[in-house]
Amino acid sequence: MNILLLGSGGREHAFAYKIVNSPKCDQLFVAPGNAGTAAIANNVALSITDFPALKEFVLSNNIEMIVIGPEEPLVKGVADYFAEQEETKNIPVVGPKKLGATLEGSKDFSKQFMQRNNVPTAASATFTKETVEEGLQYLKSQNLPIVLKADGLAAGKGVLICESLEDAENSFKEMLLESKFGAASDMVVIEEFLKGIELSVFVATDGKGYKILPEAKDYKRIGEKDTGLNTGGMGAVSPVPFADDAFMQKVEDKVVKPTIAGLEKENIDYKGFIFIGLMNTNGEPYVIEYNVRMGDPETQAVLPRIKSDFVDLLLAIGTGNLSNYTLELEDFTATTVVMVAGGYPGSYPKGDKISGLENENNSSLTFHAGTTNNEQGDVLTNGGRVMGITGKGQSVEEALSNAYSRVNEITWKDVYFRKDIGQDILNYGK
Ligand code: AMP
Ligand code: GLY
Repeated sequence: MNILLLGSGGREHAFAYKIVNSPKCDQLFVAPGNAGTAAIANNVALSITDFPALKEFVLSNNIEMIVIGPEEPLVKGVADYFAEQEETKNIPVVGPKKLGATLEGSKDFSKQFMQRNNVPTAASATFTKETVEEGLQYLKSQNLPIVLKADGLAAGKGVLICESLEDAENSFKEMLLESKFGAASDMVVIEEFLKGIELSVFVATDGKGYKILPEAKDYKRIGEKDTGLNTGGMGAVSPVPFADDAFMQKVEDKVVKPTIAGLEKENIDYKGFIFIGLMNTNGEPYVIEYNVRMGDPETQAVLPRIKSDFVDLLLAIGTGNLSNYTLELEDFTATTVVMVAGGYPGSYPKGDKISGLENENNSSLTFHAGTTNNEQGDVLTNGGRVMGITGKGQSVEEALSNAYSRVNEITWKDVYFRKDIGQDILNYGK
């Protein structure tokens, strides 16, 4: 079958890698893609939010399935658009409709969904411009640190953890009264701070059935030992040792089942992935957030661990046949190290030539994120997160060693990466 994949990050290169390795895929098109997807599929220069242009492409290229990587087109209703058009309504789309995507698009909506459906989460209250005074009073009554969240999408930057009441009050006023995160902070959720270890859990669902995919741990901060600014993610490890069978059983019973039951009960048509950001607090799972897509860079560690046919999985999601799909996993560990442009997550240059990409090996995978080709066919940096290297191994040590060997072959001007991905996992329980 011919497949159209939307997105241009490391996550999408990992999706593309799995899709083209399935015998079920004839042609894969990626809009807009990156230099990595260009090497294994056909990039198409279309905007992922220009729905009429995407539809024209789908019809003229015999596309039989559409797979959505990032949240933006989902929150803007791409799945609804294809479902509403006569010529495209029967094409399976992997990605929820707008209402389901609101689980990521609005923190207030997602908190209310969790509360209605008894999904464990931190205590919270939501405020607007009209209720700033009540919000300031509420802040005074809470323990520190305290978490402030812009309600809408803020490119991963809309969450502030405030250590002092003064900082919390100032940030709260900036968000609501000075539009610190634009319209995204017209509503602010004030949330109890949860102590514990974070875990990313991935669920494939067709709205009725579900499959829990391999879990992963993300490394969000730019600096080693989790210091400095938040990023989109600097590395990932899968599986995660503290996510043992007993904990994952709690996640399934207390989080996944009520979430899927809630979607069904509330008539939310959801065919896609749910990425549940969890805190393990004293052995109990609490949901920090839902994302309506796979994680980046977690996908680069999670997808290589799926053994069963990936196009079959996507098709089972998109056609509502997930209960007939058998998920099989590989038994290796995967660790991903993200290589970024110097300056990221602040400003950074683009257009630097990347060297050392030749000589791929069997113990690692090279996923492109912000890359592009020039006319000579060189690969150039084109974003903050540039590459994600996944090492495979029988142990975390071996996977890390394979990832870093490959990372050390690839370079460009002012490249930066964290050297401590997975170290906390190696030290876990010691
Ligand atoms: P989010 O954008 O919701 O993923 O939040 C960004 C990060 O902020 C999360 O990955 C957590 O590290 C942290 N965070 C969010 N909510 C809480 C909370 N209630 N308690 C502790 N940390 C949190
Ligand atoms: N790695 C976190 C995210 O994809 O949101």
